[in-house]
Amino acid sequence: MSNLATFANWLDNMTATSIHANTTGPYETRIKALLDKMTLAEKVGQLTQFSGFHDVTGPAPSDWRAAQKHHLLQSGVIGSMLNVVGTEDVLNYQKYAVENSRLGIPMMFAYDVIHGQKTMCPIPLAEAASWDLKLIEKSARIAAIEAAAQGLNWTFAPMVDVSREPRWGRVMEGAGEDPYLGSRIAEARVKGFQGDDLSADDTILATIKHFAAYGFAEAGKEYNTAEIGTTTLYNMVLPPFDAALRNANPRSVMNAFNTVNGIPATGDMALQRDWLKGNRGFDGVVVSDWGSALEMIAHGFVANEREAAKVAILAGSDVDMESYVYLDHLESLVESGEVDEVIIDDAVRRVLRVKFELGLFDDPYRYIDPAREQERLFTESHLDTALEMARKSIVLLKNEHNALPLSGDKKIALIGALAVDQDAPLGNWRAHAQAHSAMSVMDGFNEVELDYIYSYGVAVQHGDSHFEHPVHVNYDNRDGFDEAVATAQEADQVVLVVGETARMSGEGRSRADIGLPGLQQELLEAIHAVNPKIVLVVMGGRPLVLSWAHAHVPAIVYAWHLGHRSGRAIVDVLTGEENPSGKLPMNFPRSVGQIPIYYNHLNTGRPGPRNEVTWAHYSDVENTPLFPFGYGLSYAWFEYSELATHVESDHVAVSFVVKNTSHRDGEEVAQLYIRDRVAGIARPVKELKGFEKAHLSAGESKRFDMKLGRDELGYFNGQGTFVIEPGEFDVFVGGSSDTALNAVFSLSKEHITSFAVK
Ligand code: NOJ
Repeated sequence: MSNLATFANWLDNMTATSIHANTTGPYETRIKALLDKMTLAEKVGQLTQFSGFHDVTGPAPSDWRAAQKHHLLQSGVIGSMLNVVGTEDVLNYQKYAVENSRLGIPMMFAYDVIHGQKTMCPIPLAEAASWDLKLIEKSARIAAIEAAAQGLNWTFAPMVDVSREPRWGRVMEGAGEDPYLGSRIAEARVKGFQGDDLSADDTILATIKHFAAYGFAEAGKEYNTAEIGTTTLYNMVLPPFDAALRNANPRSVMNAFNTVNGIPATGDMALQRDWLKGNRGFDGVVVSDWGSALEMIAHGFVANEREAAKVAILAGSDVDMESYVYLDHLESLVESGEVDEVIIDDAVRRVLRVKFELGLFDDPYRYIDPAREQERLFTESHLDTALEMARKSIVLLKNEHNALPLSGDKKIALIGALAVDQDAPLGNWRAHAQAHSAMSVMDGFNEVELDYIYSYGVAVQHGDSHFEHPVHVNYDNRDGFDEAVATAQEADQVVLVVGETARMSGEGRSRADIGLPGLQQELLEAIHAVNPKIVLVVMGGRPLVLSWAHAHVPAIVYAWHLGHRSGRAIVDVLTGEENPSGKLPMNFPRSVGQIPIYYNHLNTGRPGPRNEVTWAHYSDVENTPLFPFGYGLSYAWFEYSELATHVESDHVAVSFVVKNTSHRDGEEVAQLYIRDRVAGIARPVKELKGFEKAHLSAGESKRFDMKLGRDELGYFNGQGTFVIEPGEFDVFVGGSSDTALNAVFSLSKEHITSFAVK
């Protein structure tokens, strides 16, 4: 049966409940009254989203489209815009909508506010490494405050795509590979953006994206196919969406460019209409990704634009971003009877509902106040939060013989193009941050008055990282090599800053080789030959392969892209002013060939290790990652003990003690993993099910009490049904996913019944 026949069947059997209309909310009477007055063309306008003319974040439309767009915007019938930023521009467009349209319905203004608006915090993957939910929420909060001050009321964030693919450029935008950590962070970010009251002048609509499985792009190639089984879909991909929907009420969901098991996400009825709107009762707006309705033609899922419009709207994609297919075809599809107007009405209701929630019908200019725009951007307090967030996001990967913190009396050579780069730390998706405005590592050295001699070494790329695409990596210019090597030779201690520039990760920036880009590996080896006392500071928008460095240099600090106060945060860790506490949200592979490598894998039938050849392994690289999920060092030492479990009436209580055995205060992320030993579907060797970040003074012991409830102990079977099964479970606790400290408990059928009741 063709796709259209499937949709036709659904249409024939459609009842009022198929579209899961919310008819009882606080605004529904006003929504209905407005809807009753709207013409079909006006309704379609509400379902159409245009990009502004300055900032294009997808393929640009043709000239005639731009002219048509201009005309439609002036007549005020369009529902929302993206990429219009600043109170002056937003005011102009909002006036069109309010003053020129028959019904005066205000527009919404959306933007990719991903890790800040003017003040940049660390990229989301870096923030995830903090495992600090309060701080992550605060970072999203300041992003929302600044975005709202610039007239915006809708962000296309957070991206909650779980991904095991460091080659995929967009891992920088997510929370890494784990659905549990990803769920908690998704909730925190949505709460930060939306606050307690969506109609306040400093809160904005959040969008959880990309629905679904965009992070499972095959081989990490951007926009690629996702082929995943239902157990992976339910247990790995959907949980962060589910958690955010249940606990944080995001008012918008963006679908995805990719196909999931052959169906383009934008045309996926099972995902959008059945799971999201039906099963999960979502009554906010589903927005397409940029042109994703149109891209269903290239996918080979629909034959033409008209079919694209029909399939997308029937599948539950409410708003069309920059495809123009709703604009061109929805009216005639309704007139011909191919799309029931009830479906259009449901989509429009959703758009109107969030506009009411934002308070736009009470005051369409609520977000537009030039004075606020002056006051609320790039404030000292926002920069302080950016610094705090940056400090907590750094991960200390190696520290042999206490190479760090740096001791004051050493002659330091600071080397590397990235050591003076004020742009790379801003990361990709830097919204309205000014290019080259971050604090570099050298700026950080200067701020704390740390002496050094500097040498540039080698350019990472040719050209300006802010504008170049594709990025032209430097493979030929070694002009600075000799000076850098000589500088290193004279020093007691080398601080070498290497890694990726900002535009080497993010959308459209997948990489097949994720070693140090360009000539940096060569530089590292040349410096190492004359002075092996190297502290390697690595910037990156993804996990990089650092196997050579790990084998040869005593200290490695992973510094991601840390935002405006990057340099200071890095220097604070180098000097010991800040005791590092970050833990990896993704495995770091030893080699690209191991990808996808993730900690929560299945055991296989031949897990090994064995002496003979026939077990699940490679013959040229170890099975383990270079640095595992959850891993990160501190200048303090933590010891775990006294692990005990107790099955209570509605949960399993887990308790353990962590002692700071060092002479330094520090913070530890205590992590709890389980393994369901025997189940109807093979379960992972470890699954994160709890964590707590705590401060422990030197010598202090602290008892941690955690709970495993129904949600943590069950899983989704192949039919998407949540089950908990009796039997034995392992519990592991420790400071990373490779911890071996474990205990075992058993669940009986009776336990499970009492758990299920809760
Ligand atoms: C495409 C990206 O996939 C999406 O995440 C973003 O929100 C839109 N472009 C709009 O810029």
